[in-house]
Amino acid sequence: MSMPTVPTSQSADLTDEQPGRLLPGTVLPCVLYRNAAVLARHVAAEVADLIRQRQSEGRQAVLGLPTGSTPIGVYRELIRLHQEEGLDFSNVVTFNLDEYWPMEPDSVHSYHRWMRENFFDHVNVPEENIHIPDGQLSRGKVDRFCAEYEKAIAAAGGIDIQMLGIGRTGHIGFNEPGSSRASRTRLVNLDPVTRRDAASGFGGEENVPLRAVTMGVGTIMDARRVIMMALGEHKAPIVRRSAEDEETAEIPASFLQAHPNATLLLDSAAAAELTAVNTPWEVDCVDWTAELERRAVIWLAEEVSKPILKLEARDFMGHHLTDLVHESGPVENIRQRVFDSLMETICNHPGGKEKQTIIVFSPHPDDDVISMGGTLITLAQQGHDVHIAYMTSGNIAVFDHDALRHVEYVSEYLKMFNLQSQESTAMETGLREALARRGDSNSPEVLKVKGLIRKTEAVCAAETAGVPADHCHFLDMPFYQTGQVKKKPIGDEDVAIVAELIRTLEPAQIYLAGDLSDPHGTHRMCAEAIISALKVLGEDDLQPEAWLYRGAWQEYEPHEIDRAVPLSPEVMLRKKLAIFKHESQKDAALFPGHDEREFWVRAEARTKQTARRYNELGLPEYFGVEAFRRLEGEL
Ligand code: F6R
Repeated sequence: MSMPTVPTSQSADLTDEQPGRLLPGTVLPCVLYRNAAVLARHVAAEVADLIRQRQSEGRQAVLGLPTGSTPIGVYRELIRLHQEEGLDFSNVVTFNLDEYWPMEPDSVHSYHRWMRENFFDHVNVPEENIHIPDGQLSRGKVDRFCAEYEKAIAAAGGIDIQMLGIGRTGHIGFNEPGSSRASRTRLVNLDPVTRRDAASGFGGEENVPLRAVTMGVGTIMDARRVIMMALGEHKAPIVRRSAEDEETAEIPASFLQAHPNATLLLDSAAAAELTAVNTPWEVDCVDWTAELERRAVIWLAEEVSKPILKLEARDFMGHHLTDLVHESGPVENIRQRVFDSLMETICNHPGGKEKQTIIVFSPHPDDDVISMGGTLITLAQQGHDVHIAYMTSGNIAVFDHDALRHVEYVSEYLKMFNLQSQESTAMETGLREALARRGDSNSPEVLKVKGLIRKTEAVCAAETAGVPADHCHFLDMPFYQTGQVKKKPIGDEDVAIVAELIRTLEPAQIYLAGDLSDPHGTHRMCAEAIISALKVLGEDDLQPEAWLYRGAWQEYEPHEIDRAVPLSPEVMLRKKLAIFKHESQKDAALFPGHDEREFWVRAEARTKQTARRYNELGLPEYFGVEAFRRLEGEL
């Protein structure tokens, strides 16, 4: 299915089958793809071409391989090419970039196991051709192993294609900031940011190894072709610094600027901060559209610190916007158009003036109140029939100690009222044992307890926001029920559950989390299920108005906002009280993301920030603003 288009500026003109677009203005060549799936297909096709060409010459193809969330799509496509189109890997030799140290190869955290599960078990690369740094060597043996690894790469004839992800520190492999251009395979210390990013997979930062064995920057630079990939908005700042700023050891990926055949492949979220995407008028001639005009004028106002209506011709002329004035001017018309379009986004009755049924889809049990709690409160206060659909249980994000506290509560409660039974005691013992021996995954009973904790918190929070308990729907979508961070793909059963709810309630309006840039994240997968359901329902003429809100991490930029719902101080306070009800996510969340602030702090800061930016652009001064985008395009 093709996703409906959320206007994505520069990638909007790319079609599924079109190759990516080379972006101007970067030192490291950057190619923008329409989405992660198209990007993955193109990388897999390049790799497959090499393999086939080498086969026809009777030679081996040597690949350098990464792990992580970025290359998963490429591995899936290569597996598909093998299974459906007979791509033969028998002439392929592989060298993995890195492995944690120390690390047993069978551990769920090991890159050995990751590679087997995500690639090698599904294709026919000969076992003897697979090389992955060894994480179980004693310290004394590591250096020799690293030297041998380098020799093995050389003996294979060097790497033909090196695939890479990029860390938020700018690391390639595990070459963290400070790594030298000449570094070779070696034992390294991991940067704190890298360890924090890995924390969710390890059940906490303290469990992430301190060190790793990695190919060096020099080893990577020796590859004949380097394909570096970055997906998602959390990579956007480091992508810009690697591709546009000066080469520096502080950003090891920037060394690739000097590689004769390295390309950085991007989805629109990761490319968002590149000049060619963010402010294309600074590096290129642009075809001015209403959307670009709005973006440019808002940018200009923020650049020169003036409200929109006070911008003058010389501001435009001094900031690469002369051709906008020539094409769409005079300046007073441009100014007024953009100002009016922003004023039109402000909406105090997001559900309209007539009573209607509304469904807020919340991927996890707290996204509703964190991201759009103020609007939720407003909709309920204005008399709409508001329902909340919690799509997943969020059970993996509960700490063991919280689960234990609840087991103890139930135990004391049963004792207090003399309600214990053989069954309740056996259940309690089983839960205590499971929690004590928890290793890599949760037992089904522990997961149930954790899910229940989140369910009761969600109901409490919804009631605080004015939505009654019987309007809370817990969908428990099957794709999430793995008990692990890794999820199953969205299936027909997930879509059917969403479609059934929409069919039953017949909402006039729905809200969904619009974090579409993270291809493997739960928010994106939930959005995918809703969009597929809307497609099915469209055939029955059921087509609610659909609004996207941003997840906990960020807010839409003013130029992206289609609807801005103002929050009063009282509504903001109630929103915070609702967020507080998610006790298991307070103080320290198991998945804090890239921002360590507590959810209510972020939620408040983000709404106030949008209000401030609107005000600085010359719009009314609100206490807070929640922002939404309209879901558009073919459904
Ligand atoms: C993995 C590796 C790392 C990752 C990088 C990005 O083998 O060497 O450099 O490529 O940390 O990770 P993801 O793709 O998970 O964002």
